[in-house]
Amino acid sequence: MTTTTPTKLNIATKEQAEFFNKSAMKSRVQVDDKRVINCRADVNQLCPIKYNWAWENYLESCANHWMPTEVPMARDIELWKSNTLSDDERLVIKRNLGFFATAESLVANNLVLAIYKHVTNPECRQYLLRQAFEEAIHTHTFQYIVESLGLDENEIFNMYHEVVSIHNKDAFELDLTKGVMDPNFTTETFEGGQRFLEDLIGFYIIMEGIFFYSGFVMMLSFQRRNQMVGIGEQFQYILRDESKHMNFGIDLINQIKIENPDLWTKEFQEKTVHNIREAVHLESMYARDCLPKGILGLNYSMFDDYVGYIADRRLEKIGLKKVYNKENPFPWMSEIADLKKEKNFFETRVTEYQTGGALSWD
Ligand SMILES: [Fe+2]
Ligand SMILES: [Fe+2]
Repeated sequence: MTTTTPTKLNIATKEQAEFFNKSAMKSRVQVDDKRVINCRADVNQLCPIKYNWAWENYLESCANHWMPTEVPMARDIELWKSNTLSDDERLVIKRNLGFFATAESLVANNLVLAIYKHVTNPECRQYLLRQAFEEAIHTHTFQYIVESLGLDENEIFNMYHEVVSIHNKDAFELDLTKGVMDPNFTTETFEGGQRFLEDLIGFYIIMEGIFFYSGFVMMLSFQRRNQMVGIGEQFQYILRDESKHMNFGIDLINQIKIENPDLWTKEFQEKTVHNIREAVHLESMYARDCLPKGILGLNYSMFDDYVGYIADRRLEKIGLKKVYNKENPFPWMSEIADLKKEKNFFETRVTEYQTGGALSWD
């Protein structure tokens, strides 16, 4: 008859023994211990989940997975290489590719190198990891478009140095992320907490919620005329991802406000409105640069109204008063952005993703 020996924890080193002793002494994570920033509870324990909005955003984003290479580009290549498009139309396309090609990397780097470290909640971090991958997919999209159309990659990927209106938008964002990336930065001081909120507003509200939207309108206008339809489809997927990023950011900002009401001072609110006004100005200048002459039924003054209109909506979402009171000159954009109304969004999709049960190692 055999006897079983009780299982012993295999502790190899003195450091491991100390770690386990310390861990055992810690109490289990309670939902009420969790906070978005400055949290003392263990960041490695996803459950119990406190912020269901973060987890739901994560699940929905995973369900929306796509890859740029699934989108056929043959019709875009044919049109681009024909003499059909005017110089003004080519300028709009190239300036938008040039802006997005590096803006996506700016967002990814801010996310991973500035934001992630200071968000001390595991379900929010779970979403940030998913978002970071989506930003990589978006950067990949612009590499794929540039390669497909045979564009000069140096020209496109250098536009943020060489085209003033693109440079000014990115310089505005880089200035916001610099302070948070400093190794000595902390959210535990009043100034640090406000600086962090300013970065979140700068990227989630301004970059992803304002700076991306003129480009969405311009590129989707080609698609509405049945031109550059591959790029148009990719921009629809990016728009869907970005509206989710922005909505997650709004929830994150509002939760930090709830948990740290002292940060949301009158001066900070005024500074936020000032930053958004500055962003609206930069975005209007960018639209002028892309559309010096009216094409596709678009002219740059329509973008003054549009950018004011979306800025008001973003301001209201974080509890501030609107300032522009403009009508939306592109009501069709709301239909595209509201994905529940968009039928057969993925009907051109060609790839089925393998799931655990169907994996093949051949
Ligand atoms: Fe993106
Ligand atoms: Fe994004």
